[in-house]
Amino acid sequence: MEPTPKYLTRNFGNPAALTYDGYVAGGGYAALKKALGMAPQAVIDLVKAGNLRGRGGAGFPAGVKWGFLAKGDGPKYLCVNADEGEPGTVKDGPLMEQDPHQMLEGIAIACYALGIHQSYIYIRGEFHKAIRIVEAAVEEAYAKGVFGPSMSGSGFALDVAVHPGAGAYICGEETGLLSSLEGKKGMPKLKPPFPAVKGLYDRPTIVNNVETLACVPHILNLGAEAWNALGTEKNGGTKLYNVCGHVLRPGYHELRHDVTLRQLIYDVCGGMKPGRTLKAVVPGGSSSPILLPSEIDVRMDFDSLAKAGSMLGSAAVIVMDDRTSIVRALDNLLHFYSHESCGQCTPCREGTHWLYEISQRIVDGRGRPGDLDRMLDICTNMVGNTICVLADAAALPTQSYIQKFRGEFEDYIRAGERRGLLGGIEGKAVAHA
Ligand SMILES: Cc1cc2nc3c(=O)[nH]c(=O)nc-3n(C[C@H](O)[C@H](O)[C@H](O)COP(=O)(O)O)c2cc1C
Ligand code: SF4
Repeated sequence: MEPTPKYLTRNFGNPAALTYDGYVAGGGYAALKKALGMAPQAVIDLVKAGNLRGRGGAGFPAGVKWGFLAKGDGPKYLCVNADEGEPGTVKDGPLMEQDPHQMLEGIAIACYALGIHQSYIYIRGEFHKAIRIVEAAVEEAYAKGVFGPSMSGSGFALDVAVHPGAGAYICGEETGLLSSLEGKKGMPKLKPPFPAVKGLYDRPTIVNNVETLACVPHILNLGAEAWNALGTEKNGGTKLYNVCGHVLRPGYHELRHDVTLRQLIYDVCGGMKPGRTLKAVVPGGSSSPILLPSEIDVRMDFDSLAKAGSMLGSAAVIVMDDRTSIVRALDNLLHFYSHESCGQCTPCREGTHWLYEISQRIVDGRGRPGDLDRMLDICTNMVGNTICVLADAAALPTQSYIQKFRGEFEDYIRAGERRGLLGGIEGKAVAHA
């Protein structure tokens, strides 16, 4: 495997970089200076050419999204999505805790390019340390003249505020985030209109993930061609992958986008724990369909994983060994989604609830012969039928767990039935209730 030069994580482990002076000593804010010498549209074009795919989950090209921001007078906003709620994901927290100015520099460049004078950083409420560190960095950026009435002496005004989040997974969905920021319940809204046209306070708004914005200074510094060379076609740059589960060395790693899932598990993370074998992998956070060991020779970019029937999502890789019960893993996942559904849409509110109910009875040994098809049928009614994609995020993995491990689910149901029969008439009645 070719070694990856470090960009996003180059200041990790260097406490001096938490300060403005330490960040500048390592070459920080040079990209902002460069951007301020360019026309705003040239900066947008450069980010477009760098094929920067949004790191929040959907992989939408950042430059293209920026191009959609409605023109015209009046306030426009940049909202930074630092909610990081996807189970398994550990990347935005470290980016903020270890190198807050990198994200702030990305914010400054984006706002200059987009003609935005107000940005909000919406940070997950439980991230007390990150909130403290980012607030201190914002304060220092004001003191050093990066933010305020004249960004680095350019005459361009930019204000940045930190907003601790409301503690719900759905507040990470961009329109839920904007509702929460407005002081309302964090409930998603139907799209279109997209936030770039009608977002915060009904004004044009760009929502970008922390990692997306942290990449921006490096595109300015390196140029689009060199940045693209670190990735694959249409997936520019390096990427932070976070691996958890049954590998020898879990953790987060900045790697080229062309790393394969097999390399990530076996070369980067040391492979499985002694005596264990790989059973399944979730490649992109809990919302992504599960992959079998025969499917891990796939590149870890947005397009390759989509072709493989899954998704890169937040690049949170969850590795499961041969001791893992897939039935219980799905049950755990469904508990999460049924709890986190905001309840606005019937297919999501009822669907996540019933998927979890049925999963619970399978786990408890009360599964019924038609339960798996019933679950698949519920999933079909959820996908594409709701305001936001939380319903899909629950249904698509459920379909994949059942389709790829159906035998294991059927064994569970049969074992439960046998227990019911052994328990006599009363037990049988319970098993078929
Ligand atoms: C249920 C749900 C939760 C989400 N949570 C997050 C999150 O915690 N952080 C994030 O950046 N994006 C999250 N997203 C994606 C955002 O809606 C949005 O696509 C993203 O912030 C856009 O930024 P990007 O274009 O830079 O990737 C979530 C989406 C859904 C449907
Ligand atoms: S899909 Fe679920 S989480 Fe999203 S808006 Fe509808 S009910 Fe809420």
